[in-house]
Amino acid sequence: MARSRPASRWTLLFSLVVLLGCMVIPGWTVKHENFKTCAQSGFCRRNRDFADNASAKGEAWSSPYELDPATVHFKDGHLTGVLIKTTANEKVLLPLTVSFLESGAARVVVDEEKRLKGDIELRHDSKANKKRYDEAEKWVIVGGLEVSKSATLNAQAETGFTQVLYGPGDKFQAVIRHAPFGVDFQRDGQTHVQLNHQGLLNLEHWRPKVDRPEGEEAGEDESTWWEETFGGNTDSKPRGPESVGLDITFPGYDHVFGIPEHADSLSLKETRGGSGNHKEPYRMYNSDVFEYELNSPMTLYGAIPFMQAHRKSSTVGVFWLNAAETWVDIVKSTTSPNPLSLGASSKTNTQTHWFSEAGRIDLFVFLGPSPKEISKTYGELTGYTQLPQHFAIGYHQCRWNYVTDEDVKEVDAKFDKYQIPYDVIWLDLEYTDDRKYFTWEPLTFPNPTGMQEKLDESERKLVVLIDPHIKKEEGYFVQEELNKKNFAVRNKDGDVYEGWCWPGASNWVDCFNPAVISWWNSLHKYDRFKGSLSNLFIWNDMNEPSVFNGPETTMPKDNMHYGDWEHRDIHNVNGITLVNATYQALLERKKGEVRRPFILTRSYYAGAQRMAAMWTGDNQATWGHLAASLPMVLNNGISGFPFAGADVGGFFHNPDKDLLTRWYQAGIWYPFFRAHAHIDTRRREPYLISEPHRTIISQAIRLRYQLLPAWYTAFHEASVNGIPIVRPQYYVYPDDEEGFAIDDQLYLGATGLLAKPVVAENANTADIYISDDEKYYDYFDFTVYQGAGKRHTVPAPQEKVPLLIQGGHIIPRKDRPRRSSGLMRWDPYTLVVTLDKNGEADGSLYVDDGETFNYERGGYIHRRFHFRESVLSSEDLGAKGPKTAEYLKTMDGVTVERVVIVDPPKEWREKSSVTVVEDGAKTSSAAPLEYYKQQGKKASYAVVKKPNVGIGKTWRIEF
Ligand code: GLC
Repeated sequence: MARSRPASRWTLLFSLVVLLGCMVIPGWTVKHENFKTCAQSGFCRRNRDFADNASAKGEAWSSPYELDPATVHFKDGHLTGVLIKTTANEKVLLPLTVSFLESGAARVVVDEEKRLKGDIELRHDSKANKKRYDEAEKWVIVGGLEVSKSATLNAQAETGFTQVLYGPGDKFQAVIRHAPFGVDFQRDGQTHVQLNHQGLLNLEHWRPKVDRPEGEEAGEDESTWWEETFGGNTDSKPRGPESVGLDITFPGYDHVFGIPEHADSLSLKETRGGSGNHKEPYRMYNSDVFEYELNSPMTLYGAIPFMQAHRKSSTVGVFWLNAAETWVDIVKSTTSPNPLSLGASSKTNTQTHWFSEAGRIDLFVFLGPSPKEISKTYGELTGYTQLPQHFAIGYHQCRWNYVTDEDVKEVDAKFDKYQIPYDVIWLDLEYTDDRKYFTWEPLTFPNPTGMQEKLDESERKLVVLIDPHIKKEEGYFVQEELNKKNFAVRNKDGDVYEGWCWPGASNWVDCFNPAVISWWNSLHKYDRFKGSLSNLFIWNDMNEPSVFNGPETTMPKDNMHYGDWEHRDIHNVNGITLVNATYQALLERKKGEVRRPFILTRSYYAGAQRMAAMWTGDNQATWGHLAASLPMVLNNGISGFPFAGADVGGFFHNPDKDLLTRWYQAGIWYPFFRAHAHIDTRRREPYLISEPHRTIISQAIRLRYQLLPAWYTAFHEASVNGIPIVRPQYYVYPDDEEGFAIDDQLYLGATGLLAKPVVAENANTADIYISDDEKYYDYFDFTVYQGAGKRHTVPAPQEKVPLLIQGGHIIPRKDRPRRSSGLMRWDPYTLVVTLDKNGEADGSLYVDDGETFNYERGGYIHRRFHFRESVLSSEDLGAKGPKTAEYLKTMDGVTVERVVIVDPPKEWREKSSVTVVEDGAKTSSAAPLEYYKQQGKKASYAVVKKPNVGIGKTWRIEF
């Protein structure tokens, strides 16, 4: 007995440990050893060392690059010259072009003369192109390159400088210092962007490999110049070291945003260590990162080397057009105020240091001054967001995998049974016959057409996966054609490259080859992709490309692509070349039937926004991943690719009901709203979740559907001026410093809707930050929140999505629940009006057929709604085209069935009707008005019932 006491204590302790062990969520972390750190990447290390050496030398450091003044020419908006790099034993000539664009952007290009002339030798009998890669713009740039007609040399330039005045009203100036070379970009006489201010410009010029007798030391550390081995793979580097690097300083700026894709905060962190900072630079090398980690500068699937620097009342930006592996270091330095200059405050400079393994320096500089202007100019260059088909902004139901065509039909029927709307069901890998794309698994999908026809009954669509790896199997027609036509990526020796992916041994289609486009197109035709119908769309995955047995899960850098470019040169644009081919293929699947393609891509680069939607890849069912999805989606939006989302519910593992519910409530704010799950997870379609969660999730999805008119209008705006669909705080309030780092709440388009999804377990309130002193109304019960520059606590019980509407807006909605967005096409609208301090409100609506390109020929409705002096009016914002009349006719019967005015003037208590005047109608009519009194903190509101004015018509409602 005596011994039993301690024994039982141990038992208790043991049980406790076991119990705790079960409760602790296992940590799933990325395999760091599979991906290079900067120190393991030769050129990253060399450029960081270069920076360290410069900073150690301090004032004594001088950049070895000079612009030879005798070579400088300025003509028609282009400044050309030759930079001379002086080394211990040679002078290297580097042609420089600075172009001043009509848009106000400037472009700086530095190349290497010897390589341009092909005057170099390649090692290992390589057939690689001798030039530095200069074709990234072929895939990325679609306009905005018209040079400025008014740019002029500044005659008053100081000696040793060339100065060019450009931009709107000549307010911009590029001050080019000859020796050492550097450029200061100024706006209104103030410097905003500085190139080579730190002297880190570094272009590793071509040089022959010198085989030294044993024992003889090279002057420089050549250990990473000629060969690099990582994870058992040796990169032969036939051109030797060839990286390019440059420092870009933003004086007076303490926030920088952009350079997706990283699972990190919106405001980028410093990267040279120190408390709260990263130690590694932000990396951009599109990769399939299994179980990626949060709060990390590690690379992910996509890359957009576009950065905005922001401070109160000014935003500037840079776009580093380089398709090779790229890293960016960020350091912020605070200068103390000069004690002699009274009133001056300290200021932060953000110093960034960019370096890429190969290619040219090709940099665009944007001087803003607002985030919207940056979006516009950047979008002119790389293209605006594709206006997607309307279904694409509804809810997408995916999992790996729906296992049979009957399974698909059953899921479809269950959504109807539980009255949950959805638009698209997805088929992952396993629909194929043995992972051979463009085929169907014969036993499980015997009747694909029947399945698609069933979906079509409720205007639903099917998306199927087509990846770029082609199974190596005799008799597989795609494989045979790929080889016969010579369309596969090759290895360094010129043989067809073979690696492993989902199907096992595979080859990769090389979409850089223009001839591939028409072949790829042919594969998507109904007679070749048999069993596919016109409501089938495509998901392009694994296009980084992911190669399971390749270095860093991708292709060897010395693989060869069309045009004799090494994979090293083009890696980051590889993904969008596949998307480009698929886009062309989906445009016209049947002759004469041109529709907007829908493609989801995992890998991306600048320009992808013209063709596809993206998602953040294989996230995990954890609260942390839910939280991280918001800054990631917001960051993609400000980086020009706003059609973004994350796997709702988390891809890996099983979310509990609370997490899943909150994820849906957050997911409805992703421009791309799709649930997806790994093959090993339990089924989690919303109708399977027990009550009350099922109803809460359905309500969240219905809220998304109710607001589809507002979403589509926001997509339209993004498609014409690049403004993100969901916007972060700084973007909407660029003058409010308190809001610059906020990345957990978002604005939907210009609607004034401000959502703050709950992303923490057990939270039942949300603190929403409000910048201005307008009234904000709770979306559901009109509770008023007011007070600028602070956080307001809003109740957020599980069933509630924290959502406010700012005063001053008119939001278009459709309130009738339907099975899919297609079935809502002819439904009437509700307009929700919130008045601002002056009693006014504004809003807009964009509608078209949601499918074709007829909108480009006037087939759309674009209205501006305005409330002023007790009159609500609708005016036309559209321009007429050949398709206008036809489209308006189809929309003839579509009306406004209800207007809700929140917080109306008190006098309205007495009103019981309003006067409705529609253009073209012979007489005005009356519509009933109901007034609902204020209750506690809940604002009063009034409802106009059945004004029945046409949505495409000009009208007035007089209160
Ligand atoms: C990749 C994708 C994932 C997909 C899986 C199987 O991991 O990121 O979404 O389910 O491949 O195709």
